[in-house]
Amino acid sequence: MKRLNLIGFSLLLAVNLAMAQAPKQVYYPEKDTAVLNNLHRWHENKFGLLMHWGIYSEWGVVESWSICSEDEPWEVRRDSNYTDYKEKYDNLIKTFDPVKFDPEKWANAAKYAGMRYVVFTTKHHDGFCMFNTKTTNFRVTSPECPFHTNPRANIAKSIFSTFRKDGFMIGAYFSKADWHCPYYWWPNFATPDRNPNYNIKLHPNRWHNFVKYTRTQINELMSNYGRIDILWLDAGWVRVKSQLTIDEEKLAAKYPVFPQSQDIDMPRIVKQARKRQPWLIVVDRDVTGPYQDYLTPENTVPKNALPYPWETCMPMGTSWSYKPHDHYKSVSKLIHLLVGIVSKGGNFLLNIGPNSQGDWSPTAYKRLKGVGDWMKVNGQAIYDTHPVWPYKQGKVCLTQLDDGTTFAIFLADKGEDTPPSRIWMDNICPAKGAKVTLLGYGDTPLKWKRVGDGFETDVPKEFRKHPPCEHAWVLRISNVAGHSRTMDVKY
Ligand code: GLC
Repeated sequence: MKRLNLIGFSLLLAVNLAMAQAPKQVYYPEKDTAVLNNLHRWHENKFGLLMHWGIYSEWGVVESWSICSEDEPWEVRRDSNYTDYKEKYDNLIKTFDPVKFDPEKWANAAKYAGMRYVVFTTKHHDGFCMFNTKTTNFRVTSPECPFHTNPRANIAKSIFSTFRKDGFMIGAYFSKADWHCPYYWWPNFATPDRNPNYNIKLHPNRWHNFVKYTRTQINELMSNYGRIDILWLDAGWVRVKSQLTIDEEKLAAKYPVFPQSQDIDMPRIVKQARKRQPWLIVVDRDVTGPYQDYLTPENTVPKNALPYPWETCMPMGTSWSYKPHDHYKSVSKLIHLLVGIVSKGGNFLLNIGPNSQGDWSPTAYKRLKGVGDWMKVNGQAIYDTHPVWPYKQGKVCLTQLDDGTTFAIFLADKGEDTPPSRIWMDNICPAKGAKVTLLGYGDTPLKWKRVGDGFETDVPKEFRKHPPCEHAWVLRISNVAGHSRTMDVKY
């Protein structure tokens, strides 16, 4: 018998710790009611699917970054000559033909897994548009692209309408940087890094054209694709740099590689977008200010609950884009991530990269099936919940519904196939007369008793012998004594 959750914290200490360890972030609370309602709905949905898909998937290389000349380990090229490489990369439009593209298959798998929203890369940094746009020929519907004759050639539209039919909230990933657009990377110059390769102050018209180009594309997405719930803007370096030092100013005046203010006119973008989509959640990633309705810790789970809406985005494999023979996280890992994130008040946006044929690796389907099997039994401990102190004790994570129903989610170790014979916790106790049950074990109440400030309960033999699921088991407590939500984030 293992004693769980030995360490007790005082309420005050826990909250202080949470605040102290949270990344220094300023959150600008949203004020618009329609947006707030949608943000609330997004938060209740907890689990979403992200997909990075584009011409880079044909080679199975990193999304876009291989055409960026920064000397970073993730920007490796298959060709040592940059100019040749870039030309071949741009020519991938001529071979992009994902004939197995079947968004119903994806929506079914994602729905089974319990995902309730989708975010899709309408355009990544390389500028290739996975939607129909009037602004450029570098798009999936261009006559140059073999897929343009396919009835589903407007890939973003097909994905959005299919998932929407299945009740998903719809998110458009859109990169503010565009490495194909001549107004961002001017063909006159070499491209030293991810930024515009010309001096914006010396060439304001060129930048102005880029701002217009971006706005037009976003307007297209907001006008012709039905209801969009989230505009997920990437490339956080495209932002106003309001306080350059004097030295930086001098350098910036001369060399474009030095920090420049990249004012994309967010107020106008958002105003126009919300004219068409008044409920639109805007996520201007990494840009502190009023256009970041939620924050997006990337590939990481914060140590504690955070006092603002947030979402961890993370690939199921090791790469955002499709990578042949990639190593995918196990079902157990994925469930534990979901539980860990939700117990701290976050959402989990899990990425799968489709391949050049327009399908996922068979492993991705298997993983989603495994997660879905667990969610069928335990989903009520995930959706609509808020975090409750102490969030996690040992192997047990907590979540709570607004009516006080509290879930204690016991995370099984690797190889731990049998639920423990007894579960106890130190700092949380069912209220007098409260009912404690196990999810997947009907309505049978368990006997429990108070021990100090906590409680203990024995896990029935039949449940242990035939657990309804693997990877984590959940106690449902109808009401807990003296505890309410400790981090009251209003959104
Ligand atoms: C990283 C990658 C970018 C990707 C994003 C997804 O920022 O550089 O390519 O789209 O993560 O969160």
